[in-house]
Amino acid sequence: MNSIQLDGLRLPSPIEALGLHPSGVELYVKREDLIHPAFGGNKWRKLKYNLSEYKLGEYTQLVTFGGPFSNHIAAVAQACRIEKIPCVGLIRGTYVDADNPTLIAAQKAGMRLIHLTKEAYREKEAAAEVRQILSEFSRPFVVPEGGGNALGFRGCTEISQEIIAQGIAFDAVVIPSGTGTTAAGMIAASQTETLVVNVLKNPSLTDVIAHQVPSDKRWQILSEYHFGGFAKVDQVLIDFINSCSVEYGFQLDPIYNGKGFYATLDLLAKGRFPKGSKVLYILTGGIQGITAYNYRCKREALRIK
Ligand SMILES: Cc1ncc(COP(=O)(O)O)c(C=O)c1O
Repeated sequence: MNSIQLDGLRLPSPIEALGLHPSGVELYVKREDLIHPAFGGNKWRKLKYNLSEYKLGEYTQLVTFGGPFSNHIAAVAQACRIEKIPCVGLIRGTYVDADNPTLIAAQKAGMRLIHLTKEAYREKEAAAEVRQILSEFSRPFVVPEGGGNALGFRGCTEISQEIIAQGIAFDAVVIPSGTGTTAAGMIAASQTETLVVNVLKNPSLTDVIAHQVPSDKRWQILSEYHFGGFAKVDQVLIDFINSCSVEYGFQLDPIYNGKGFYATLDLLAKGRFPKGSKVLYILTGGIQGITAYNYRCKREALRIK
């Protein structure tokens, strides 16, 4: 399949050296967040072949699912604006918050929003409510929640292909993981051990990845860095995120990369990697998640600066 080309994409995403850690390990970061200001990170990887497929198939609308603060909804809306693709977001929950920054931006970009009951959202296309909505479009192309289909997986294999082509021999790669699609795609094409940080406390993460990657790949799930689960934070995590933006000059979102990078530095401090090794952290984007988080955050001390 020919892949879609958008103007202004920064690919390959740069690998930056963060210097020698006191443990004797050279730490690097792959700045997936720099791929595009509006839909960088793993979102571009997951959308790339979905957008190509949309264009090939003469569809009339791109329809997708997401929560009210979803990075995926934000990214789809922006990519479809640039590609002039009519798009519809089916949003979890019927409560409409007129000030929600994620949904305001999506609407401004041209996405039509339809709020679903939580029950219908859970069942997706199996729900009568969703089938009714889809039947109103002549040729809808449905992208699953988070872009987590085979096309999304394929786009994520390109993270590892890029790393290999960028020419530094890493001893380990660390990535934050939610559903597991991004990590699975990456591991499938990787030549390095991959450490997968289970930031959402997802109980099926091991199975999801194991079903999608060849058995000779080296990978491990890290289960101790979820800080309580999806969207849960504490003062330690927020202080860490705020200190990293000063020390390293990049922003970490509180749902994925704050926890993923915290895990990386914790493993370095605990001597998980031998002296002299090279470790790469994959910064998967999610910058809009910081705006969404700060909007919901009620305590000044827990705000991300
Ligand atoms: C910024 C960011 N990083 C990481 C992930 C985790 O990706 P996955 O669900 O493919 O594991 C997501 C969710 O898609 C995300 O928005």
